[in-house]
Formats: sequence, C-alpha cells, structure tokens
Amino acid sequence: MRILILGMDGYLGWSLANSLPGEKFSIYGIDNFYRRKWVKEMQSVSAVPVASMEERIKAYKKANRKEINFFKGNITNYEFLNHVVKKVRPEVIVHFAQCPSAPYSMMNQKKCVWVQQNNITGTLNLIHAVKEHVPGAHIIKLGTMGEYGTPNLDIPEGFFEVEYRGRKDRLPFPRQANSWYHLSKVHDSNNLQFACRNYGIRCTDIMQGIVFGFHSNADKGTKELNTRLDFDEAFGTIINRFCCQAVIDYPLTSYGKGTQLRSFLPLSDSMKCFQLVIENAAASGEYRVVNQFANVHSINELSRKVSAVCRQLGIAVKTKPIENPRKEKEHHYYHPDNNNLKSIGYKPATEFDEEIRKMITGLLPFRKRILKYKAILNPTIHW
Ligand SMILES: NC(=O)c1ccc[n+]([C@@H]2O[C@H](COP(=O)([O-])OP(=O)(O)OC[C@H]3O[C@@H](n4cnc5c(N)ncnc54)[C@H](O)[C@@H]3O)[C@@H](O)[C@H]2O)c1
Repeated sequence: MRILILGMDGYLGWSLANSLPGEKFSIYGIDNFYRRKWVKEMQSVSAVPVASMEERIKAYKKANRKEINFFKGNITNYEFLNHVVKKVRPEVIVHFAQCPSAPYSMMNQKKCVWVQQNNITGTLNLIHAVKEHVPGAHIIKLGTMGEYGTPNLDIPEGFFEVEYRGRKDRLPFPRQANSWYHLSKVHDSNNLQFACRNYGIRCTDIMQGIVFGFHSNADKGTKELNTRLDFDEAFGTIINRFCCQAVIDYPLTSYGKGTQLRSFLPLSDSMKCFQLVIENAAASGEYRVVNQFANVHSINELSRKVSAVCRQLGIAVKTKPIENPRKEKEHHYYHPDNNNLKSIGYKPATEFDEEIRKMITGLLPFRKRILKYKAILNPTIHW
C-alpha cells in the first residue's frame, strides 16, 4: 500500500514512518522542517537528539532493507503538493503537517494568523490535490480532542442525535475550542466534512488526545530512528514536559489548580491506532470521526504518577503549582467516548505508568542536555 505522510519529520510523523511494517507499506513523506525551526525559536532543543532527514533515511533503509521516499517542501504551496500527489498516487494520506501548538498560536496577532493560514491552507490544498488525482484515497487527518472543549455533556465521536422542537437529526457535536490553534482544527473539520459530502472523497478525522513518550516500538535500537521529544512551553506536551523536568530535579510545573481533565495516550498506542484506521478505511464519501485516547486524567493525577515512578527510581521530585497561564475551566465535567477505535480492535494501554517509567529511564542519559535549557521551563505565554 502506498502511504504519503505529510509532516514526516515531526514527533508523530517520524514515529509512524518507522512503525508501519515495511513489507506492507511503501512510505513517502513530505516535510519542510518547520518543527525544527519553531523549537529553536522557543530557544530550546529536543531532549532526545534528532538526526537529519538524510541520516534518518539512511538508517531506515539499513533497518528495513527498503527505501523511504522524501519530498522537502511546504504543503501550503499547491503546485508542490499537487505535483507530489500526482507523482506518488497514494492510497492513504496521513496529514500531520500543521503547527500543533496552542501557546504558539496565542503569542500575538502574527502567530495567530500564521498558524491558521498554515494549517487551514494545507488541508484545503490536500483536499483539492486528492480530488484531482486520487479521489479514492483515504485522508487520515489529525484533529485534536481539544476541538470539543469541555462541555457539561458526554462527548460523542463527532456527531450526536438531537431532538429540537419536535424534529430529530444527527448533527455535528458543537466544537468549543480554547485557542487559535484548536480553532484551526475545527475549521479543518468543517472543511473536510464539506469536501466528503460535496466531492465524495473519504476521510477519517482523528480527535487525538495528548500523546506522551518516545518509545514507539519503532526505533529498533538505532539512534537515528528515534523521534524527537520537546519540553519547551509551546511544543512540549504535558507528560513529556513533566518527565524532562523530573530528570533534572526541577519541580513539575502544574498549571492552576491542576484539576483540569484531559485525555492521553502513549505514543505506541497512537501508532497502533493509526495502523488500525489505515487498515479499516472510511467508505467513499464518508466523513468519519474517531476519538483517539487511552485514559482521562487530571493534571494533578499526572504529576502524582510521574512523581511515584520517579520515587521508585530513586529520584525525588516536587510539584510546583503555578498560576495558570491559560484561560480554561479548572473544575468541569469531562466524559468523552472512544468506542469507534475499540470497535476496530484498539485495546487502550493498561501500562500507563510503565510508559512513564520507560520515558524517565530513556531520558536520564540526556540529563545534561536538558539541564542547559532549564531557563525556558517556566511558562511566559499567557492568554
Ligand atoms: N503530539 C500530540 O500530542 C498531538 C495530539 C493531538 C493532535 N496532534 C496533531 O498531530 C499532528 C502532528 O503532531 P506532532 O506532535 O507530530 O507535531 P510536529 O510539529 O512534530 O509535526 C508536524 C510536522 O509537520 C511539519 N509541517 C508543519 N507545517 C508544514 C507545512 N506547511 N508544510 C510541510 N510540513 C509542515 C513540521 O515541520 C513537523 O515536522 C499535528 O497536526 C497535531 O496538531 C498531536
């Protein structure tokens, strides 16, 4: 199967390229290395050193005895994307190539506009290139659980049945995103839903929870195959950031009361879910939504989990609650469904703490590297 990964140099993109069994998939990737640039802009680095794309491709070839094909370019450039789609004729396209950071999008007017332009234009270009060259291809698009916000209702997977003034319909569940970044994903969801209805293309829109870890079961012991792991306030997601803080004895910076609830999944689970979605495609003309997460936890539970694992490893860790830099509800109801993935074979990981343990032990050799960037560990972006 020919699969095109947009954003292949990123945290999830590189993990996916390495997780998919080489005998079943021919892998093609696109990236323009924005993520490397953004993290530099935050005056930080990946805790785990990241090889260049040339080195990554060489190592992939050696480990898999198979080529991986890479196109450097920007997907907001339609000519470029159109050319690649026409040439590769992918059967599946996994679209990761967006700016994934809420804080980055909230920095100022420029960043807000830039993130929305980058994210929304890329998806619109993809819709048109697919319609033109491979109308039967399955688009797998990364959305986020953050699209829904925290309504005082159970959260279904994309749609719900509503009765209003005596009439019933199945309608999109309201999206109440909390940042310009999350809103870019909401706009994508609307655009993709329309494209499926109007052009008959097929799409799975994945509302993904927050991913953690850097063991995707894909690194095969070769350092060039490792994915990145960031810990700065814009690109480091919470558990990854806590673990990096823990290994340098820095107090875990818990925002606000820490009672906010979010959904999470280990990187290895995220990879399993993508493979299940690839192997169980949406029907022609279908816009399908799946909520992709393993567990729901509060921020306080996460800091307790990281601290407990550290204690077992002989590392003493403190938690430092700090004023919440974000406008978000701290006490709220949160009960999302995740049945669609389970119905195609996903069993959420039960070894949540084990994943944290693997991450902490994996990060210990990079202690000095993280320590150098200690100054960037407190949030400065407020909204
Ligand atoms: N990591 C998570 O916890 C998480 C959770 C939910 C959703 N997601 C979504 O999954 C996707 C991937 O996330 P990630 O953590 O791997 O982020 P990432 O930043 O590591 O990966 C995105 C990749 O896309 C590339 N890119 C961005 N814009 C591009 C453009 N215009 N042209 C070409 N390449 C471009 C970047 O250089 C980067 O390598 C994002 O859309 C993100 O919003 C991630």
